[in-house]
Amino acid sequence: MVNTRLVVVTGAGGVGKTTISAAVGIRAAKMGWRTLVVTVDPARRLADALGTQLGPKPSIDPNEPNLGAAMIDAAGSWRIVAQRHADPEVADRLIANEFFVAATSQFPASQSYAAADEAAGFVQSGEWDLVVVDTPPSAGGIEFFTAPAQMTDLVGGRLLRFLTGSRLPGRNFFFRAAARPALRIADSILGAHLLERVAQFLMDLRTTYDGVAARAQTIERLFATATILVVATSDAGPMGEAARFLEHLPSVAGEPTAVVFNRSLPEEWIGVASPTDTDPTLAANLDSWSTESERQRDLRTAFLRHHRVDTISIPLLGTPPTGLTSLSAMIPDHLMATMNIDDRPSKAQH
Ligand SMILES: Nc1ncnc2c1ncn2[C@@H]1O[C@H](COP(=O)(O)OP(=O)(O)OP(=O)(O)O)[C@@H](O)[C@H]1O
Ligand SMILES: [Mg+2]
Repeated sequence: MVNTRLVVVTGAGGVGKTTISAAVGIRAAKMGWRTLVVTVDPARRLADALGTQLGPKPSIDPNEPNLGAAMIDAAGSWRIVAQRHADPEVADRLIANEFFVAATSQFPASQSYAAADEAAGFVQSGEWDLVVVDTPPSAGGIEFFTAPAQMTDLVGGRLLRFLTGSRLPGRNFFFRAAARPALRIADSILGAHLLERVAQFLMDLRTTYDGVAARAQTIERLFATATILVVATSDAGPMGEAARFLEHLPSVAGEPTAVVFNRSLPEEWIGVASPTDTDPTLAANLDSWSTESERQRDLRTAFLRHHRVDTISIPLLGTPPTGLTSLSAMIPDHLMATMNIDDRPSKAQH
């Protein structure tokens, strides 16, 4: 029984997912949770804040012993996925096969699957109380949750079954009679050698099926109990994506815990009148900030009218938060409370 909790931070591109993942992780670590933040492609300064050794293996922050960080590298993660689910010899062959390289970079859900597979490994390791996963930019974050099923379908799908037979092929594998004519044509056009490599790739990929299918089920079980933060800004685009996520919530996920409106302008700025003797440029400036704050508030109000979900605003900060202190300070206490992350006595440190 794994007691590690999983927080998934999702949302449109550029809204602050990586920043908020790091910030939530830092807050939780300070509250005594052994926390791992799994980021995807963090900006340089944020990566530095999480540790200069940031790589696929968790590294511990020298200033915060409860905080670990790892960075998903989609290409590297695929190597780990192959090694996890295939025999060592097969994994080596897969990694070296150009079709594997092409399939893993072209398959739309590939980055999401690799991130989810890695996150599941960290959750199951039992080394952490909390794993916070930053999701790769994708269509409103939905893809992250559908990736395991898509991946199972890819390696166990009909095409592959048709070509490699319904049972796991042995080394002396022969294509099924039905597939042979098509393959013979391809053979004459592409050459036997190429076809052999395609066949080898398909057979090798097929052997990962049991492992991938079991892993996908584990991931989906984790999704069902995960805390989900949907990050947006108070702008039509990201808000629309958050709405799509709520409306087309993948069945494998539980209800999102909260929608976070990041980089919000304060509502106190609405209607602020400038003194009569104010410099006209400054007055115009104040006026436009007031209008913008009002526009944002109206969008949030309209969003709330349609969606019954907790929402939390995080203000736009003058300086983008990149250090442990500023990241920690950007997360309001009630966001941690909404996620049920409260002070706990620190367990054995790393
Ligand atoms: N509350 C905030 N105030 C000011 N700047 C912020 C705030 N939150 C995030 N930022 C800045 O916004 C930019 C985008 O943030 P971030 O990289 O976390 O977004 P993302 O959703 O992970 O993007 P991507 O989809 O590209 O991965 C960064 O420069 C970050 O420092
Ligand atoms: Mg990011």
